[in-house]
Amino acid sequence: MNVDGKEMRPIWFDPDTETVRVIDQRWLPHELIIKDLTHVDEVIHAIREMVVRGAPLIGATGALGVYVILVQKGNRGMDDAWFSSQCDDLKNARPTATNLRWGVNRVQAKVMEKTSHETRIQAALDESLAIMEEEADNCRKIGTHGLELIRETADRNPGRPVNILTHCNAGWLACIEYGTATAPIYAAHDAGIPVHVWVDETRPLNQGARLTAWELGKHGVPHTVITDNAGGHLMQHGRVDLVIVGTDRTTRTGDVANKIGTYLKALAARDNDIPFYVALPASTFDWDLTDGIREIPIEERDPDEIRYVRGWHDDAMIQVRITPMDSPAANHAFDVTPARLVTGFITERGVCDASESAITALYADRFKN
Ligand code: MRU
Repeated sequence: MNVDGKEMRPIWFDPDTETVRVIDQRWLPHELIIKDLTHVDEVIHAIREMVVRGAPLIGATGALGVYVILVQKGNRGMDDAWFSSQCDDLKNARPTATNLRWGVNRVQAKVMEKTSHETRIQAALDESLAIMEEEADNCRKIGTHGLELIRETADRNPGRPVNILTHCNAGWLACIEYGTATAPIYAAHDAGIPVHVWVDETRPLNQGARLTAWELGKHGVPHTVITDNAGGHLMQHGRVDLVIVGTDRTTRTGDVANKIGTYLKALAARDNDIPFYVALPASTFDWDLTDGIREIPIEERDPDEIRYVRGWHDDAMIQVRITPMDSPAANHAFDVTPARLVTGFITERGVCDASESAITALYADRFKN
């Protein structure tokens, strides 16, 4: 994505220094800070503390984390038991997004096929870079398929922009390129279809207000930041045509884990007959799970993220407390929207219904023995 004239991704491998580099998303939109990840503890910290975040990006970071383990720890990487336990630490950095496990597993399997330290390092790098290119391409295809949904909505409502509501950040910052939920929006905007995005601020870490608004602004997409609770009101007054969100893990039956508050948007959308779409690549499906509410692990984060609000004042980052000193707080980071509330999935293979039969038909090759 172009940021002030420079093509950028949220993660890349710098071949000159042989270093994994990331945008530190905690500082956006106020500062564009780049961080090097040279130690596995730094990779785990970056995922856990949300230097990098968003399901596909966490998957890519975990994948490159396997490379970092092998480079940093030298010949220890030839000890399969030790190597596997290091990979497990990476996989456990955050629990909800299935892409993390998927990315690490995929690179780990390629590494285990090799029998020398050098070939293991090369295999880890090759596979991680392949994952990143595939995920970028998947998001581009999600954009192409989702564009048609936006075009149909625009054709039904000539003379005004299509109003799309999104939650959290499922943009290029959360992926490698284009984003998942934002890919159709960027594609529509680039195709000359007038769009306007309602951006949920997404408390407590404000990924919508900080990141989605920043991204859309850089791309010139008209948008308005709203409070997390405004969506229902806007839907009741005909000011939302479509909801498109991303997901951190979706079961093969179509239950969707995404940022806390997504479920309430889906309920409001259903009550107002507004299509509710979820955009995702194959890496975000958890093919083993069938009951999202019972089976998807929901991350609980530090309650201080609720108690304190972070912002910028005179170019310095400040934190202010908003709760009484003695009030407990609980920070559930994700919720699950049942498949029955989802109109459809926008995937790299096309759009499908939110049902086990439609999902498994679209990805039939994965279920062949
Ligand atoms: O806690 P975060 O910021 O990692 O949560 C991210 C989301 O909930 C995104 O919507 C999801 O990962 C989809 S990213 C394409």
